[in-house]
Amino acid sequence: MQNDIGQTAQTIQTPRIVEVGQHRDGPRCPPGIRLGRIAQQGVDPGTGNKSGKDAAGDVPAADDQDFLHAGIVADDIGELMSYQVTVQPGGRQFVAESDETLLDAALRQGLIIPYGCKDGACGACKGKVLAGSVDHGRAQAHALSDREKAEGMTLYCCATAQSDLSIECRQMTSATDIPVKTLPSRIEKLEKLAPDVIEMHLRLPASEKLQFHAGQYIDILLKDGRKRSFSLANAPGDDNLLQLHIRHVPGGVFTEQVFSTMKVRDILRFNGPHGGFFLREESSKPVILLAGGTGFAPIKSIVEQALAQGNPRSMHIYWGAKARVDLYQHALPEAWAAQHPQVHYVPVLSEPAADDHWQGRTGFVHQAVMADFPDLSGHQVYACGSPAMIDVARKDFVSVCQLPEEEFFADAFTFSAT
Ligand SMILES: Cc1cc2nc3c(=O)[nH]c(=O)nc-3n(C[C@H](O)[C@H](O)[C@H](O)COP(=O)(O)OP(=O)(O)OC[C@H]3O[C@@H](n4cnc5c(N)ncnc54)[C@H](O)[C@@H]3O)c2cc1C
Ligand code: FES
Repeated sequence: MQNDIGQTAQTIQTPRIVEVGQHRDGPRCPPGIRLGRIAQQGVDPGTGNKSGKDAAGDVPAADDQDFLHAGIVADDIGELMSYQVTVQPGGRQFVAESDETLLDAALRQGLIIPYGCKDGACGACKGKVLAGSVDHGRAQAHALSDREKAEGMTLYCCATAQSDLSIECRQMTSATDIPVKTLPSRIEKLEKLAPDVIEMHLRLPASEKLQFHAGQYIDILLKDGRKRSFSLANAPGDDNLLQLHIRHVPGGVFTEQVFSTMKVRDILRFNGPHGGFFLREESSKPVILLAGGTGFAPIKSIVEQALAQGNPRSMHIYWGAKARVDLYQHALPEAWAAQHPQVHYVPVLSEPAADDHWQGRTGFVHQAVMADFPDLSGHQVYACGSPAMIDVARKDFVSVCQLPEEEFFADAFTFSAT
């Protein structure tokens, strides 16, 4: 141990695919040839980024376990098929093996399909299969309906290829070189921002940093192997300190502890960064940032980063909450708007309390956006919060306000089944 938190060595390896048995004939392996992926340490299954693996291996995440097994895949399991996937528009191609999801395959080869939960729950990775067949895997019914399946839609975080494929993805980008790490951290601060919201500061070991894109999230690794996702609320500048906004879910496995027994100096392990929710800097379109409750956390990170970089892009922040007390950092976006002409802030309460004496906007937050921007055809929207809010915002913005669907980026706070 080199410090009081404990040090983890990070190995960073370039993902590689090896063939076992016979060489591929061109980009696609003919039926019957067995393929295996080995030496997967360093490749995060969720992001495909080069990842640092916990060298001590004492707290492997479930995903890590999967990859520990990947090294013996060629010997242990039956025939694996390799399929060519062509992405439209644009015609970019990657290879997907029959035992990996299309999202994992794309990420492994440096291509980012937008995604959120990686669990078949949020719908962020939904796309259309234009040709070929897939197994929809563990897609959850509320995220992918039977009708959508019949129309050719699938969730790329769950779907595996059963043939060569042509798929649609309008937001595909190339992966950056940010490593995914598994690290210990020490709780430095626990501050109640509202009766049911705590701001948690996590301090990394002195020699460690976590690079991330503003808007991404980490997975807290629980002792029993489960994990819980939380968006990073600070901008990447101080990458030795991470801020989280944690809402209390009564009886919740993790948040119940945060609000009762957890204390400063406790150690938490996490894995990250994850997710495709970050500002697309190649665009100069004006931006609507839509937050519900603690969905303000990644929005705060994005705005702080944009302001630190002197980004002149117009940003309209809409923050929806029940009552005034739930706008737990109301003064912050107010100050941004007062100090930066390109930033605008509209708080919206759905159920203001009588003693709030609220003079501001009321109702559903996405409807406030629609009232102010009946034509969103020239905008980008970044939305974060409950799955219900995100679903209705996506649907209404696209169908009523002419927002191009590929300009809607979202992180839904889905909750785990375990
Ligand atoms: C990408 C991503 C980012 C996230 N970022 C944040 C964040 O920044 N801040 C934050 O507070 N949360 C965030 N979440 C949600 C968080 O990961 C947990 O799901 C949440 O904190 C509950 O965890 P828990 O272990 O306390 O409850 P669990 O033990 O998972 O749940 C207990 C019970 O409550 C139900 N439940 C859980 N959450 C909800 C809910 N929201 N509404 C209704 N019922 C629920 C469960 O179904 C279960 O029955 C995020 C989720 C995702 C997928
Ligand atoms: S449903 Fe695929 S990332 Fe959430």
